[in-house]
Amino acid sequence: MNIKFYATLEQAERNSLQNATVVVIDVLRASSTIVAAIESGAERIIPIADVETASRLVRPAERDKKLLAGERKGLPVPGFDLSNSPREFTPERVRGKTIVMTTTNGTRAITTAAKAGRIVVCSLTNLDAAAAALRGESDLVVLCCGAEGSIAAEDLLCGGMLVKSLEPAVAAESLSDAARVARVIAEEFGSNVEAYVRSSDHGRKLAALGFEEDIAYCSRVGASSSVPVVREGVIVPR
Ligand code: MLT
Repeated sequence: MNIKFYATLEQAERNSLQNATVVVIDVLRASSTIVAAIESGAERIIPIADVETASRLVRPAERDKKLLAGERKGLPVPGFDLSNSPREFTPERVRGKTIVMTTTNGTRAITTAAKAGRIVVCSLTNLDAAAAALRGESDLVVLCCGAEGSIAAEDLLCGGMLVKSLEPAVAAESLSDAARVARVIAEEFGSNVEAYVRSSDHGRKLAALGFEEDIAYCSRVGASSSVPVVREGVIVPR
């Protein structure tokens, strides 16, 4: 398996995403929230890049079946039904519902990769299930979202752990420097995930905003068996 590894969305060459198999990683928190929502029985998630478009997609009469979710600067968007905290996406709240979701990096990455052949959403919580779903691929693009152009340490950890889980199918010599660095981080911190995620830039920011428990939630490696995929621009269970 050949891997193209991007440490941030901004680094990703758009043409390399076209028709490719792309795995999108945004540990804090979009990927973890999408996995939680699908695990809790949400019917579909519509990823949107901006708040205005998302708001227009849900008419008042639909608000019982269609929920608005997301964040800006890590905080809930005023008027939305849900923030981007995965702990809010319980079966009681989202089962059978459509969720229109907009986040700063995660949903932007998914919409950016819209022309991909296959998109798989990966977080630490569904790492093993995602790796199992990707094992047969010959070429893979690992797209770590990062944070508005900056590297997100937690995304690199997850990307590195994914690369390790795909070995020995992964051709080590095909690994780029970004993939090698991520793999070294996985080697070094893979046994102490929560402390590492908590110490990341976004981990500290979320803790300061009062989302401390989201860090523990998003650090539970392999806790979920659901593998959200994107079909015609909509996120659905695999
Ligand atoms: C993002 O998409 O940028 C993140 O998921 C933001 C967050 O949840 O804090």
